[in-house]
Amino acid sequence: MNSSNSRAIVATILSELLSGRGSLTTHLSKVKDQTDFSLIQETCYGACRWFMLLENILSTLLSKPLKAGDKDIKCLLICGLYQLRELEVAEYAVINEAVSATVVLKKVWAKGLVNAVLRNYLRKKPEIEQALLGAEPSILHSHPAWLFAEINSQWPAQAEQILQNNNLRPPMTLRVNQLQKSRAEFLMLLDAANIEAMAGDYADTAIYLAKPSPVADIPGFAEGWVSVQDEASQLVAGLLQLKPDLRVLDACAAPGGKTCHILESEPSLTSCTSIDLNAGKLRRIEENLQRLQLEANLIEADASDVDSWWDGQLFDRILLDAPCSATGVIRRHPDIKLLRKPEEVAQLQLTQTRLLASLWLCLKPGGLLLYTTCSLLRQENEEIIGRFLECADSAKYERIVADWGVECHFGRQLLPGANQGPDGFFFCVLRKS
Ligand SMILES: C[S@@+](CC[C@H](N)C(=O)[O-])C[C@H]1O[C@@H](n2cnc3c(N)ncnc32)[C@H](O)[C@@H]1O
Repeated sequence: MNSSNSRAIVATILSELLSGRGSLTTHLSKVKDQTDFSLIQETCYGACRWFMLLENILSTLLSKPLKAGDKDIKCLLICGLYQLRELEVAEYAVINEAVSATVVLKKVWAKGLVNAVLRNYLRKKPEIEQALLGAEPSILHSHPAWLFAEINSQWPAQAEQILQNNNLRPPMTLRVNQLQKSRAEFLMLLDAANIEAMAGDYADTAIYLAKPSPVADIPGFAEGWVSVQDEASQLVAGLLQLKPDLRVLDACAAPGGKTCHILESEPSLTSCTSIDLNAGKLRRIEENLQRLQLEANLIEADASDVDSWWDGQLFDRILLDAPCSATGVIRRHPDIKLLRKPEEVAQLQLTQTRLLASLWLCLKPGGLLLYTTCSLLRQENEEIIGRFLECADSAKYERIVADWGVECHFGRQLLPGANQGPDGFFFCVLRKS
């Protein structure tokens, strides 16, 4: 968008997401040079996080719903409501800029509407907030109804906590490159740089920063002493039971966080092959490897089409970090609430099943395959494994014994943590006989 009106930018991004196009990450990367970028970013994330709740407030302020073609105006109003409700931005600035944004969006007719709705919200705020308390629980927790129902039925004892944690701002978590520094040494470097931090409880490489920090301010980031990675993902390398002289495959590898951690954990592997379908994302792996001074064989391919990329040499370890609904990482990617549709889960299950069955052929007898997702949904996790075990005689399920997460019928599930805790993540180990 060719305008510096930050509210118009936010409205356009939200409206694209509502139409199922792009993601917060891709849209925000295109406007990162805007002078108001921090406000744009904060509003986009916050408005996605609280979208269903703000939508409910908006419906009480409109005499009739907006037309389908006016998603941008709806999103402009949601942006204004979020800022009035949650941010310390002057009320007059929120309203004036939102009204001006109608011109940028070429919807001058909506000037009066935007002005009236936002002013009405301020006038009637106590009644509106009181009435909101009687709304559906899915709206109060600001989750799409289908996902709210899934979380409640699949995780009845933990649902309230999951829903609350999904609405928190995520921590910034670092992975210390143990080839370069120990965690204790790195904590001291952070302390010397006046960056408050604490060690993670589950992964011995994880460090939580008390406040997010630009990577440029983190000591040794450019030199590869440390990477940004959630603690849940940092458990993967340990679960792969790495040792020297193994051939390792990371089948869905981009942007390469787990590939790099595998190589940092065991520098004497025979080889590490990393595949991804997406060429652009594969370049991200390359950048990460370069910064960390590591090497892997990178292949652009559909990992399930083994004939297209495999030379027939069996792997000792396979990581299948499968594409999934990402319902475990909503606190990091609140746009999932807008983007994900229940019917997509069935499609993802087909992909997960196909990848697992195909990659199994590439595993050496005695070798180990680790299946992971950042999903909370059992359909993408233990059900995929259960069905696979029914038809693959050579596959043996291995329990993960750990002091973290919830043991499932097959595999172990981490649920999304609070401020200083890991993402929601599923892990399952299979051994080939
Ligand atoms: C969950 S992400 C992987 C994250 C990565 N393991 C990491 O730690 O940085 C899933 C990845 O799978 C890739 N992907 C999806 N379908 C694939 C397929 N059939 N073959 C290979 N890669 C695939 C996507 O492009 C995406 O980068």
